[in-house]
Amino acid sequence: MAKPSVQYVCSNCGAKAPQLLGRCPVCGEWGTYEEEIEVKVKGERLKVKGEAGKPVRLHEIEVQEDSRIDMQCAELNRVLGGGLVPGSLVLLGGEPGIGKSTLALQVLMRMTSRRTLYASGEESLRQLKLRAERLAGSPDSLYLIADTSLENILAETTELQPDLVVIDSIQTIQTDAVEATIGSLTQVKECAARILQYAKERNIPFLIVGHINKEGSLAGPKVLEHMVDTVLQFEGDQHYLYRILRAQKNRFGSTSEIGIFSMQNDGLREVSNPSELLLSTQRDGLSGIAIAAAVEGVRPLLIEVQALVSSAAYGTPQRSSTGFDARRLNMLLAVLEKRVGFKLLQKDVFLNIAGGLRVNDPAIDLAVLAAVLSSNMDIALDASTCLTGEVGLAGEIRPVNRIDQRIREAEKLGFRRILIPAAQAYQKEGLHIEVQAVKKVTDAFRLLFKQ
Ligand code: TYD
Ligand code: MG
Repeated sequence: MAKPSVQYVCSNCGAKAPQLLGRCPVCGEWGTYEEEIEVKVKGERLKVKGEAGKPVRLHEIEVQEDSRIDMQCAELNRVLGGGLVPGSLVLLGGEPGIGKSTLALQVLMRMTSRRTLYASGEESLRQLKLRAERLAGSPDSLYLIADTSLENILAETTELQPDLVVIDSIQTIQTDAVEATIGSLTQVKECAARILQYAKERNIPFLIVGHINKEGSLAGPKVLEHMVDTVLQFEGDQHYLYRILRAQKNRFGSTSEIGIFSMQNDGLREVSNPSELLLSTQRDGLSGIAIAAAVEGVRPLLIEVQALVSSAAYGTPQRSSTGFDARRLNMLLAVLEKRVGFKLLQKDVFLNIAGGLRVNDPAIDLAVLAAVLSSNMDIALDASTCLTGEVGLAGEIRPVNRIDQRIREAEKLGFRRILIPAAQAYQKEGLHIEVQAVKKVTDAFRLLFKQ
């Protein structure tokens, strides 16, 4: 009898090895190897009707116009690229407690014109009811099932014929086809493969919730990301109100859209005017605060950058940053030392992006430096000024993308002045905001602190 073949797989990157390794030679993670047993899959694989094997020409492929499913949630529709594509597989990832289940349930509760199924392997029906009570409503269109068996869930799906199925979460369901433990890479992979096949066969879309491991990537990440059509990441700080939904991968839309939500007592609320909420109203006369005209995805956002600079209490100065890359902060501080001549070596520097947001846009560099200097000198910046510009190693201000959007957003929110990179062309017509172009950080500081 043939021996069952055993191999080991890295749960982080999916690399395979014939023996158990402590450290993955591919991704460098420690202790991520798991045993994977190649098992003969019971039952026949379904064939995707009509699509397998026969080459066709583009014009022969029939596509129904406007076939996307409206999720009754503008922010989610936007991130999906204009609604959900029938038969597609969407993976919703995020840290525990961030609000994935709340988002999924809430969306289904709103989609009253479609029959939907919510399958939970994590919570009992009673717990789901309690959650639903917070969200208010009990639509007849929504069916719930608390089960961990994929075969059962799919059987019920076949019977119910819903327009959308949510599986919460992929790590808590299992298929009989493989004998691996629940939540293991083998299980997760096989479940996802089966769901994928089922979804494409019946043209029923699935939204799969997935947990994120401590490194911030989806458990069994690469394998799942390759399989699904769309990967959505739900992120934010649990202790803050705001949650951002990003598309990390989208076969049917752009990955630069983001959706913004705030977590309330009665569920998630869509935020359509984020800048207004992110700016604190009481910042007049406070030092260490600068407003950045940022762009997240394709949306302009005005963001409050807060810095605190104080003499180091202990020998080694501390550098700490929340919502902004710490290495980038160090780089910017070095620029400040070298190009502007401020001595920050013996200072603690703390940086915080207000509202618990994490910002990747390099255009907030200038605001970071302005906040640091403002705190260091204890001089408040003019509250009606905002800044945008990436800072280079030579202390030059580099151009940013979507400059017009940034300027318009600042104007819309009542700012009277914006500092932008000098080398940048923008639309001047009809602007009621003063635009000042700056070439170097020193130019910017001269304008800001009137030195
Ligand atoms: P949940 O959706 O269970 O997170 P996940 O599925 O990503 O693990 O959200 C849990 C958190 O959200 C929990 O800390 C309570 C909070 N919450 C609210 O603030 N308001 C609400 O209406 C609901 C349902 C949850
Ligand atoms: Mg959950």
